[in-house]
Amino acid sequence: MKLLIINGPNLNMLGIREPDIYGSQNYAALCDFVAAAASEVGAEFEIFQSNHEGVLVDKIQEAYGKVDGIVINPAAYTHTSVAIADALSAVAIPTVEVHLSDVMKRESFRHHSFVAPVAKKTYMGLGFEGYRRAIRFLCLGEA
Ligand code: DQA
Repeated sequence: MKLLIINGPNLNMLGIREPDIYGSQNYAALCDFVAAAASEVGAEFEIFQSNHEGVLVDKIQEAYGKVDGIVINPAAYTHTSVAIADALSAVAIPTVEVHLSDVMKRESFRHHSFVAPVAKKTYMGLGFEGYRRAIRFLCLGEA
């Protein structure tokens, strides 16, 4: 099983950005966490972060035919990007959406996700653990 883990804008600022919302661990710690979760289920993975919408679209397109599952935290693009949702639909790779925070308990502009309708599942409000749950869902079918 080959997984692509995609993180959108400002997630590289973890540890610095709003620690009361996103926690005190940095992006390198998230990468280590994902590596451990992938290794638990014997999955190969690539983890990728960009602050640029088109770069994220390119990365999704490049995954076509090469990747068995996508875990994506589109960050702010969740709430704005038809292009990312369209790219996920185009490649038709099973996708799970993850948010560190519970976006439904935050500002109303975060309540809508363009990605949710094209994702098989969404985990939110679980911090790093959401990525582990997403990986286990894609690899083992665990809910
Ligand atoms: C986020 C939630 C988004 O609303 C926000 O723009 C982010 C991070 C999360 O992981 O909780 O950048 O996706």
